[in-house]
Amino acid sequence: MAEELFTPHNIIVTGGCGFIGSNFVHYVYNNHPDVHVTVLDALTYAGNLENIRGILGDRVEFVHGNICDAELLDKIVPGHDAIVHYAAESHNDNSIANPEPFLKTNVEGTFRLLEAARKYDVRYHHVSTDEVYGDLALDDPAKFTERTPYHPSSPYSSTKASSDLLVRAWHRTFGIRATISNCSNNYGPFQHVEKFIPRQITNILEGLRPKLYGNGENVRDWIHTDDHSTGVWTILTKGRLGETYLIGADGERNNITVLRDILTVMGKSPDAFDWVKDRPGHDRRYAIDSTKLRTELGWKPTHTDFQKGLEQTIKWYTDNRAWWEPAKAATEAKYKQQGQ
Ligand code: NAD
Ligand code: DAU
Repeated sequence: MAEELFTPHNIIVTGGCGFIGSNFVHYVYNNHPDVHVTVLDALTYAGNLENIRGILGDRVEFVHGNICDAELLDKIVPGHDAIVHYAAESHNDNSIANPEPFLKTNVEGTFRLLEAARKYDVRYHHVSTDEVYGDLALDDPAKFTERTPYHPSSPYSSTKASSDLLVRAWHRTFGIRATISNCSNNYGPFQHVEKFIPRQITNILEGLRPKLYGNGENVRDWIHTDDHSTGVWTILTKGRLGETYLIGADGERNNITVLRDILTVMGKSPDAFDWVKDRPGHDRRYAIDSTKLRTELGWKPTHTDFQKGLEQTIKWYTDNRAWWEPAKAATEAKYKQQGQ
């Protein structure tokens, strides 16, 4: 296990009211009591203050604001020792329907944060996605590594790729103390109902049929969001500056298998779903080789039983209807308009 090279005391977590950012804030709160967290979040449709309300107080503070607001960053960044940047427009289908907010938040927002990190000499960790590498063929034994060339397919993934490149340039040209992580598909509690797994679970709970894109053979490499959070903490505290680390838990599964697992666990026929229009430009397969993070920094995932994690996730959505119900009707209306 590599030594901690950086000891944060007072960090900003952007997007800390979203699915993965809020998981990281809880992780820090529960495991690193000497660290103060300032959550900066614009509370878009995807942000929910309820995700962190229970831990707001002396150690977790909330600032309602936009990462594109340079004046606000001038007010809040000084005095912090790191920025961990999760805030993003994160959904591929939305980026196809309307790319503009993706350019604004994912590219301009990252630029503003990098400029603030430069001005106030604050360490910066950039949370990114495996989608920057494009896709792999279904029968290709290869996986993505830190050396795979960038080849993004969607407006979402191309804006995330752009933001990664800005980080690399700001590190090399201006000496920003930065690290980057690219993670695979996360699942777990608190994920917005627009995403694949929560959409299908909540459809079944609402008496609607799940919806499968294309032929259902597309493969995603699933990781529990708790494991993503420990990966980011490991890279923030032990990672080498200027380096990229891939985070993944060897969780490759095709969509139809995941959907049939959900239907079976929820007591439905494995065929009780609708085939719907495919996503334009739909990436076929993602697969992460996380050897660098495991061998250099000693990280490993702990939620490696996908079936168990899926069952716990189904139980969470079943027990927490009040959390997702307010977003469900509008999300499905949007999908219906898109023929999905
Ligand atoms: P999410 O959509 O659930 O949450 C995004 C959060 O960012 C929300 O709280 C939202 O209010 C906030 N936000 C959006 N625009 C903002 C702005 N301009 N200023 C301030 N806050 C803003 O997203 P997520 O799934 O939790 O993803 C978080 C990060 O992790 C993203 O950078 C995403 O690219 C990356 N990532 C996600 C996955 C995944 O499977 N979901 C996998 C790898 C990487
Ligand atoms: O790989 C990491 C990425 O994973 C993150 O960067 C993104 O922020 C995150 O949204 C996720 O992107 P995907 O596009 O892979 O996730 P999504 O949940 O939208 O879809 C997962 C797969 O399921 C994909 O192949 C499309 C398919 N799908 C999705 C929905 C919403 C369906 O078949 N039916 C659906 O209803």
